[in-house]
Amino acid sequence: MLIKIPSTSDCKESDVTPESIYLSRRALLGSSLAGLAVSAMPGWAQADEASRYADVEAGAAPAWFKDKLSSTKWQAVTVKDEAITPFKDATHYNNFYEFGTDKGDPAQNAGSLKTEPWSVVIDGEVAKPGRYALEDFIKPYQLEERIYRLRCVEAWSMVIPWLGFPISELLKQVEPTANAKYIRFETLQDPKTMPGQRSGFALIDWPYVEGLRLDEAMNPLAILAVGMYGRELPNQNGAPLRLVVPWKYGFKSVKSIVRISLTSEQPKTTWQSIAASEYGFYANVNPTVDHPRWTQAHERRLPSGLFSPNIRQTEMFNGYGEQVASLYTGLDLRKNY
Ligand code: MTE
Repeated sequence: MLIKIPSTSDCKESDVTPESIYLSRRALLGSSLAGLAVSAMPGWAQADEASRYADVEAGAAPAWFKDKLSSTKWQAVTVKDEAITPFKDATHYNNFYEFGTDKGDPAQNAGSLKTEPWSVVIDGEVAKPGRYALEDFIKPYQLEERIYRLRCVEAWSMVIPWLGFPISELLKQVEPTANAKYIRFETLQDPKTMPGQRSGFALIDWPYVEGLRLDEAMNPLAILAVGMYGRELPNQNGAPLRLVVPWKYGFKSVKSIVRISLTSEQPKTTWQSIAASEYGFYANVNPTVDHPRWTQAHERRLPSGLFSPNIRQTEMFNGYGEQVASLYTGLDLRKNY
């Protein structure tokens, strides 16, 4: 992102795709989609979208993830008239500084991340703290497919089909106390498997930390994701558990989460600690408030190239204003960027 210092929303509820249709899509994904009848695909998968899914690489999904797919609510939220970003771009143009600072580094280096076994700690201002094996942590929740825009503070964007569940569901389970005002998320710290954490040049004081106000976390759009493109999360995208808050710049979407804490004070977040004048706590997508070193008025929708830069206007709250603007009534968004 960096700071190379040293160096009316389209979101709508739509029908649930029946499992049988989804499974036929999965079968199709396993083969080449080219030449296959569009009618064999789920209703929403128009020919264009099918080609976007054509390069999805099958993963080695853990058993708990496969179990969850049978009850998944497909297309719970979608983005109208905007193509899903090809899987290849979503998985080879990444920010995950634990694995290097170049966009291709995470795909190249994140294979070393060991995601099984994985546990998540819930602590702080909650009635029910605990440490959970990931499969137990996920058990109470139904997965939903949420197709969201992802807008990076660096002014590029994608459209990603996530699989996850609302954070509000988690909060119901763990019961925040009356003192809880914020939620803090922490990424794994493991220099053995994360080369970026071994680097003497890293700006980041590991682990990577992000946070939300509690009412932001309760918003139905805020999810914890365990998958994307109908499969488990690839390591470079934050396996096995990441945050997704589509109305905020991508750096809020912390990856490979091991700890979730409810706090009474606003957490100190990674990018704010590095450069508070450039990266705020709120980080709401806002085309009217420029980054000090570049405009936020527009963005480059990936895939983009020299001859087809694919530039589009950035939307307030990334196009999710109808759902989230009321969270910020009375707040000066110029000061609270
Ligand atoms: N989480 C961790 N732990 N480390 C990171 O470097 N980068 C953030 C966010 N989450 C980052 C992170 C940034 S800047 C962005 S834009 C998104 O992840 C990118 O997500 P993607 O690579 O899946 O597109």
